[in-house]
Amino acid sequence: MELLKQKILHEGVILSESVLKVDSFLNHQIDPQLMMEIGNEFAERFRNDAVTKILTIESSGIAPAVMAALKMNVPLVFARKRKSLTLVEDLLSSQVHSFTKQETNEISVSKKYLKEADKVLIIDDFLANGQAALGLADLVQKANAEVVGFGIVIEKSFQKGGELLRSQGYKVESLAEIQALMDGQVLFNKKKEEETLT
Ligand code: G4P
Repeated sequence: MELLKQKILHEGVILSESVLKVDSFLNHQIDPQLMMEIGNEFAERFRNDAVTKILTIESSGIAPAVMAALKMNVPLVFARKRKSLTLVEDLLSSQVHSFTKQETNEISVSKKYLKEADKVLIIDDFLANGQAALGLADLVQKANAEVVGFGIVIEKSFQKGGELLRSQGYKVESLAEIQALMDGQVLFNKKKEEETLT
């Protein structure tokens, strides 16, 4: 998705060879116009998959996911990472280990909002090692619902998540695929899109 790639090139900050900071439009401040385009793109890519629900995880997945849900005219539910005062019973839960943060979180969703008949599109902002994505898929499986695929805003192809999900037969649609972060450059998967960060 060209608009997203341009945004990454112009506003992304490379923190290390494995971490890209995109706080100006996705992880802290949010660009609503870009989120709308992202939502439209996910809706287009999954238009034949009879999606009935979108699932994401708080907090940065919510903005792109809500725009996709609006366009696809389906509800969005987000998994919580912390226990909520009001979300106390009938929970579906899964453990998610973050290699980046070296911590394990229990994520949960109320059984009320994921049902057996649901065909679920999972959306997230980043795909790195795929642990959050697999945790979300596990919640869907625990509800006996179906995962129709994953919509990812930024996939870091040099980490294992994409391969892991695709090897399990999942449809994975990533709007920007980063092959490497090196020497101050973001290298996208297609060679011609290689550019220098300003
Ligand atoms: P994994 O789920 O794919 O295994 O990823 P990992 O544990 O490595 O990532 C943990 C958190 O860090 C996730 O956000 C993920 O979106 C984010 N993340 C991973 N790689 C990058 C990166 O290169 N840049 C940025 N900006 N974020 C990255 P989170 O902790 O759930 O945060 P949030 O959703 O509340 O913002």
